[in-house]
Amino acid sequence: MTGIASINPFYAARLQPRLKRSHVDHVGEPARMPRPADRDPTRWARLPAAPINGSPVPGLTSLYHSAEAGDYGDRGYPGNCGGNLIRDLIRYFRAKSVFDPMTGSGTCRDVCRELDVYCWSSDLHQGVDACEPCDRPAGAFDVAWIHPPYWRMKLYTSDPRDLSRTPTMEAFLQRYRLLIANCAGAIHPGGKVIVLMGDYSDREAGYVPLVYHTKELAFSLGLKQHCTDVIRFSHGNSSSKKVYRSSFIPGLHDVCMIFEKAD
Ligand SMILES: C[S@@+](CC[C@H](N)C(=O)[O-])C[C@H]1O[C@@H](n2cnc3c(N)ncnc32)[C@H](O)[C@@H]1O
Repeated sequence: MTGIASINPFYAARLQPRLKRSHVDHVGEPARMPRPADRDPTRWARLPAAPINGSPVPGLTSLYHSAEAGDYGDRGYPGNCGGNLIRDLIRYFRAKSVFDPMTGSGTCRDVCRELDVYCWSSDLHQGVDACEPCDRPAGAFDVAWIHPPYWRMKLYTSDPRDLSRTPTMEAFLQRYRLLIANCAGAIHPGGKVIVLMGDYSDREAGYVPLVYHTKELAFSLGLKQHCTDVIRFSHGNSSSKKVYRSSFIPGLHDVCMIFEKAD
């Protein structure tokens, strides 16, 4: 162990990426692909300080950097998202009822159970199509939470109503519009529709700006943006362990958008 590491192992860990600069490219030198073994699993970025304010969840800012997912849902479920962000948002909005029509492995449902919040939870896996109003109460919920498929990035069911099975981008956007309209119909005036979505690169269509499309659809349905987007750091993504020959700017986040229904 070096001197610094024995005095302060946390500070030593922060210095490590600067010491291991063998994969940094210098002008005129050929680039070398870093091998996974070269990578330090922990990297440090300095975050801006957040102003002190009256928020009931002071740690909730526009940068959701926590690597902890929380003990909710099933981390092995395709497209699973951590529950801690959902928990923080429900606590921030002091929601007492949540509409969760794409529950997947039940992450939002589990958060609500812990917080003693009423949750109407379903998924196409149980035969309930989130793009239709079905038998949920109308105009009653404080919050609708959705983490939809990113078009066909991952396929979830063999049901043709599955958003991830839509044959074209246009068909996806038509059904995505029905999904957002259904969520807007479920909440009361002043309620929030919260959408976790990310952009991605499709093998044929190229770069797909789903965050942009989400906002366009939501605004066209009369929803307003309530506050800042929350940029959620994608810790634990399977793609971050891969090595690619092609050159691109890796996307390391998705975006949580918070819309409000007018009074
Ligand atoms: C990204 S996953 C959600 C994962 C969830 N956030 C979790 O942590 O487990 C998207 C979900 O949408 C569901 N889904 C796709 N199309 C649907 C539809 N038309 N109606 C209801 N659920 C649908 C899929 O079955 C999948 O569970």
